[in-house]
Amino acid sequence: MFLTPDNGSRAMLERHSKSRIVRFCIKLYLLQARRTFHLIPAFFGRLALGQAYGRHLQDLIRRYGERNQSHATFFLRNRPELELMRRLLNRKRHGAAVDIAVVACSKGAEVYSIVWKLRSARPDLRLRIRAVDISQEVVDFAAAGVYTIDSVDSRKALHQTGDLTWKDQIVRERLVSMFERLTSQEMNEMFELESDQARIKPWLKERITWLRGDAADPEFATALGVQDVVVANRFLCHMEPAAAEACLRNVGRLVKPGGYLFVSGVDLEVRTKVARDLAWRPVMEMMREVHQGDSSLIEGWPLNYWGVEPFCDDRSDWKIRYASVFQIGELSYNTGSIFTNAQYRADQPIRTKE
Ligand SMILES: C[S@@+](CC[C@H](N)C(=O)[O-])C[C@H]1O[C@@H](n2cnc3c(N)ncnc32)[C@H](O)[C@@H]1O
Repeated sequence: MFLTPDNGSRAMLERHSKSRIVRFCIKLYLLQARRTFHLIPAFFGRLALGQAYGRHLQDLIRRYGERNQSHATFFLRNRPELELMRRLLNRKRHGAAVDIAVVACSKGAEVYSIVWKLRSARPDLRLRIRAVDISQEVVDFAAAGVYTIDSVDSRKALHQTGDLTWKDQIVRERLVSMFERLTSQEMNEMFELESDQARIKPWLKERITWLRGDAADPEFATALGVQDVVVANRFLCHMEPAAAEACLRNVGRLVKPGGYLFVSGVDLEVRTKVARDLAWRPVMEMMREVHQGDSSLIEGWPLNYWGVEPFCDDRSDWKIRYASVFQIGELSYNTGSIFTNAQYRADQPIRTKE
């Protein structure tokens, strides 16, 4: 049947109002689920049915909820992730140069954590770090490396009056500190501490170039140059899936053949699709630990779009779905032989050796 313009616009209006009604119903359903979710016994969440229910809720939240960029970050945020990076770079020869880009570096906590971990373990490596964020203000702050150790309590009043700034962090409606995952020994190793100020030690600031840049820009890879390791963590989840997918493909171009991409904090469907399409090889070592290594992301599931679902090795696609680290390009460390991208098989993941 052909529609006249009038019929056509009526059909469109009907579709729109139907989708408005659907959205409204889903919002009500999610509101109810948020109110009652905490009443569900913890053991149910560990059962296959409980996990399926969680995945269903998060799927709706991702489709119908809003996403917002955030500058929230933590020092030593995901320890297994740092340990895996150390192991992968431990195979570099004495004194080798290593280029690392940290994309979406926010206030610098991730960059300084990486440098602290790698320089403590391998002081001989000549690390060259490029740290990039889309916000110039944030990049300048990160480069200065001077933080205020305000107690969370002292900021609570500002939270109530709405006077917090981007330097403060709210995670699941709770004010949190960037330092909360550090022991006092680690604080002393990383910072010069003076009254309420923590200043990054000079040895951790060496050979870092701080840049403003947009990871979604097609010129991004050309401008930054290729890297041995690219870290692109916890910013793609704040984008709509189509934008995140395009951005992830763009970021992948930064990695040298045989180099590694660390990418967590992204919708698992988006990451799996890109990894499959581009034949990225998942790194098997510590896969489960890295996936579960960031407590806020684990606790945020399923009621937040940025939460990560529990690791589930019953799924046929688990070896790629839960991989946060991929080797990209041509060199296979397994066999020492050279593959073309087309010969890569994502179902033959890499196992690293110490
Ligand atoms: C939640 S923070 C993540 C910080 C850090 N990567 C971590 O894991 O702790 C997200 C950061 O991504 C940055 N960002 C968002 N979109 C970006 C883009 N297109 N290019 C570069 N940085 C971006 C934001 O400015 C923000 O500082």
